[in-house]
Amino acid sequence: MQPEILVGAPERLADSFVERLECAAAAAIAARGRFALALTGGSAATAFLPRLVSARVDWERTEFFWGDERAVPPTDRESNFALAQRLLLGPLAVPVANLHRLPADLPDLDRAAAAAERELVRCLGEPPRLDLLWLGVGDDGHVASLFPGSPLLDERRRYVAAVHDSPKPPANRLTLTLAAIAAARLVVVTALGEAKAGPVALALREPSSRLPLALALAAAERSCLLLDPVAARELAPARLRDSSRSPGLL
Ligand code: 6PG
Repeated sequence: MQPEILVGAPERLADSFVERLECAAAAAIAARGRFALALTGGSAATAFLPRLVSARVDWERTEFFWGDERAVPPTDRESNFALAQRLLLGPLAVPVANLHRLPADLPDLDRAAAAAERELVRCLGEPPRLDLLWLGVGDDGHVASLFPGSPLLDERRRYVAAVHDSPKPPANRLTLTLAAIAAARLVVVTALGEAKAGPVALALREPSSRLPLALALAAAERSCLLLDPVAARELAPARLRDSSRSPGLL
């Protein structure tokens, strides 16, 4: 399915993100009694997590997962978990039992990936269907810790994998795979800043390319791209006109 594309100032995008999150949470809780949400790291998380604090979501019934994690302690400044803890989970006082962080700080990263996958399947079943999987985009078009050219782009069986050679430091990470992205009910990708314009345009212009962003959008059952004006600036005007009908420019 074609991604929904929204273009607007970051504050407006954050509001749109919260609207989608509230809808997804309400639907998931009505249907299954809980909301499974995977958070991103990076600039999107820094920009939007504080806005999520006031979202009308039953946080006690929300289970938190992550799209990827760096091999650092969960208290480290570089940790995606620590960022969420500081900007969202701490302020909301989310019960610890609802937090399913990726244990990328364990010494054996492959065993950590297997343990994280067991936890995902234990919580969500198989395939593990996240209700909302939130991703950022790297300047090279990576999503989660799936980087261009990585053999992990062919992984369709495992849901969580170890990364030992990330070109973005630190080299060691855990990441959800395309199999997990494909199983999610809704994938929301946020791209903020000029450096994302190239990969965003390429992924939309060549949806069958091997760019991780393109693969993630192709795999997703339903997806939404939230772009600030500079991240959208290489999109063809026709694309923007199309997206402004449904629903487009904020
Ligand atoms: C990470 C992220 C990662 C991020 C992109 C974009 O741990 O690095 O989860 O996938 O979303 O690298 O990050 P920036 O927006 O900060 O460039």
